[in-house]
Amino acid sequence: MAKRILTFTLNGKRHEGVAPDNMLLLDYLREKLLMTGTKTGCDGGECGLCTVLADGTPILSCLTLACSVEGKAVETVEALEKDGRLSAIQEGFHVKLGSQCGSQCGYCTPGYIMAAEGLLRANAAPSVDEIKTALGSNICRCTGYVKIIEAVQYAADKLRGAKQAA
Ligand code: FES
Ligand code: FES
Repeated sequence: MAKRILTFTLNGKRHEGVAPDNMLLLDYLREKLLMTGTKTGCDGGECGLCTVLADGTPILSCLTLACSVEGKAVETVEALEKDGRLSAIQEGFHVKLGSQCGSQCGYCTPGYIMAAEGLLRANAAPSVDEIKTALGSNICRCTGYVKIIEAVQYAADKLRGAKQAA
């Protein structure tokens, strides 16, 4: 299998590596770069567990060849926390689905967080329908969706509040 040199930005830092032409971005991130916050589930574009951002847009890394992100800015869930502080959407999931509120396995959380992060960058005040549409490629098998929508609304409120205060 042919290989190629691959250069892109990962979580704000330039990355250069070698990838086989047929290697999926999901495998490149998890196996070569040990970015295991990105989860693997169906491996077929149906669960959203593998969602990352490419140039700010959510993509399914199980359907994306690593070589196709050449020159792009890729972000995984590891990028969101800054200086020990959760991002707004991470905080939203913590508050709405943390241990007292009953998230169950949590395996779907990173994918939801990245899909929601992409939404909130494009739309600061999404409606419930817009949230449902943006998260429509993601599946939660054991907790349910009401709290996930509330988590996104929490983050949107927090981000708008921070903008108004600035
Ligand atoms: S692992 Fe990518 S959509 Fe399920
Ligand atoms: S909390 Fe288990 S799949 Fe969502």
